[in-house]
Amino acid sequence: MDRLRNPFTPGAGALPPELAGRSAIIEDGRVLAGRTLLGRYEKSLLLIGLRGVGKTVLLKHLAEDARRNGVVAVVIEVRNAESDFEELALRVKEALCTIDFASSVKSSVNHAFSVLRNFVKTFSLNIGDFGISLETAQGIATSGKMELDLSEMLLACARAAKESGKAMGLYVDELQNFQIEAMRGIIVALHFAAQESLPLYLVGSGLPSIRSLVGKSKTYAERMFNYSDIGALCRDDVDLAITMPMNNNGLDIAPDAIDEVFARTRGYPYFLQEYGYQLWNAAEGSPISADDVRRTAPVVQDRLDSNFFAVRFERISSREKEFLRAMAEFPQNVAIQTSEVARRLGRDLSTLSPVRASLIRKGMIYSPEYGGIAYTVPMFADYMKRMLPA
Ligand SMILES: Nc1ncnc2c1ncn2[C@@H]1O[C@H](COP(=O)(O)OP(=O)(O)O)[C@@H](O)[C@H]1O
Ligand SMILES: [Mg+2]
Repeated sequence: MDRLRNPFTPGAGALPPELAGRSAIIEDGRVLAGRTLLGRYEKSLLLIGLRGVGKTVLLKHLAEDARRNGVVAVVIEVRNAESDFEELALRVKEALCTIDFASSVKSSVNHAFSVLRNFVKTFSLNIGDFGISLETAQGIATSGKMELDLSEMLLACARAAKESGKAMGLYVDELQNFQIEAMRGIIVALHFAAQESLPLYLVGSGLPSIRSLVGKSKTYAERMFNYSDIGALCRDDVDLAITMPMNNNGLDIAPDAIDEVFARTRGYPYFLQEYGYQLWNAAEGSPISADDVRRTAPVVQDRLDSNFFAVRFERISSREKEFLRAMAEFPQNVAIQTSEVARRLGRDLSTLSPVRASLIRKGMIYSPEYGGIAYTVPMFADYMKRMLPA
């Protein structure tokens, strides 16, 4: 088929032609935004899942939805870099600029801007000019303690949002990358917002390690969130995700071809976008058959290896590769014990602890709540075996 008109979207954060299987969570996000706008309390929301399951796409969708309904949405992706706070401050500034400057709210918006300016000065961030004359918010967000200053800054924004009949929603992607002080700052802000009936909430997304970050940040933090596991799609949703975009563009696909795609992708969204994309390009007639899927599989595999898997594998030392490869020999449906990996490699457990820690930091593996370790990338064991045959 015409490659120019290919509707599929394999790629990080690329909005799929059909956002399949996420209606329940979209509804949860809508309720959170809507209730906050009404001044009612609702727990903040954390979207947790492996790489490539569609967290970023979902987060952006929820933010857009909320914006349309009157939420002042701040959307950021945390990179675990110096620039994270600058980006946060910049997005907050942009968000404040969207609040109506009607005279009744002007003073609280002005106050929020000036607290933001304090915050920015305190942490030597550069987000450019404010372009308006600001009152002085003396002593607020100037302690130099991130936890305190960030929470004060966010609360000032929430007050400004409230006075203009809006709510402030923080949409934070790759939340696991946030320094613990930043996480604490947000949690403290949410905590006080709940007590003071201020319209502030968080929708965070990222790897399963978010749970332990939240747990470590404040004793009361875990109870402040609804957790939503974002995972692979079921057979019917895979059908929807593949068939709808094809049908909408004049191509059909047989049910047993969908079965084949489902079996090969296990329903993981990134993988099925790649299948859709390659099947479209290769299609010579309609409907696409199961045989077509089998014929296309090697191309899909090559593309996934070089685009999806390889990017994770590039910054990995040889010690770490050895560790990751050893993990591939274990069943992947349960967490793997580091001691087992050590035994397999014939090494002392103590020499592997730093390797394990480094792989967790790099987001290649995580430690599920019940202990042990697992890959953060779906079907990574097969990739390891392909790249490093025994
Ligand atoms: N619900 C869905 N249905 C179909 N495709 C999806 C869905 N969610 C995400 N995708 C596709 O999956 C890929 C990965 O999405 P992304 O949001 O980047 O995942 P994550 O942030 O979890 O790594 C993208 O190509 C996207 O178009
Ligand atoms: Mg993402």
